Amino acid sequence: MSATSILVMNGPNLSRLGKREPEIYGSLTLDEINRGIAEAFPEVTFEFFQSEYEGALIEKLFEVEERGGCVGVVLNAGALTHYSIALRDAISAVRVPVVEAHLSNVHKREEFRHHSVISAVCVGVIAGFGIESYHLGVRALLGRG
Ligand code: DQA
Repeated sequence: MSATSILVMNGPNLSRLGKREPEIYGSLTLDEINRGIAEAFPEVTFEFFQSEYEGALIEKLFEVEERGGCVGVVLNAGALTHYSIALRDAISAVRVPVVEAHLSNVHKREEFRHHSVISAVCVGVIAGFGIESYHLGVRALLGRG
């Protein structure tokens, strides 16, 4: 990866974007969202990764860490945000900065979404701006460099 490499990583159920509760998550598919990110930041080399599995997300984080040269990770961990201590431990085990991002404003929704177990080990949190949440996450990482 080059010096301006960023990983955009999505967790469980985000593969269903476009079909899944569009009134909450919008009508774009994950591929369309990822294309929009790549187009908005032509100077950045992106890697896009999605998995339904906690372990696969953790392995990808370690892979990026070991490879080096990654400016940071924009992570929408989906529901894992609210309970995955394993993902939290993985984020705190790597040096690569991770921005927590959510399409919806989780604080306006059900109470179980109000708490994130990963926020404290992320460099920042962005929620509620739809697909712009990912763009803001990328901008935040570029601003740290
Ligand atoms: C989400 C919010 C989570 O609470 C939920 O489980 C998701 C998506 C969001 O992007 O708004 O899967 O992370």
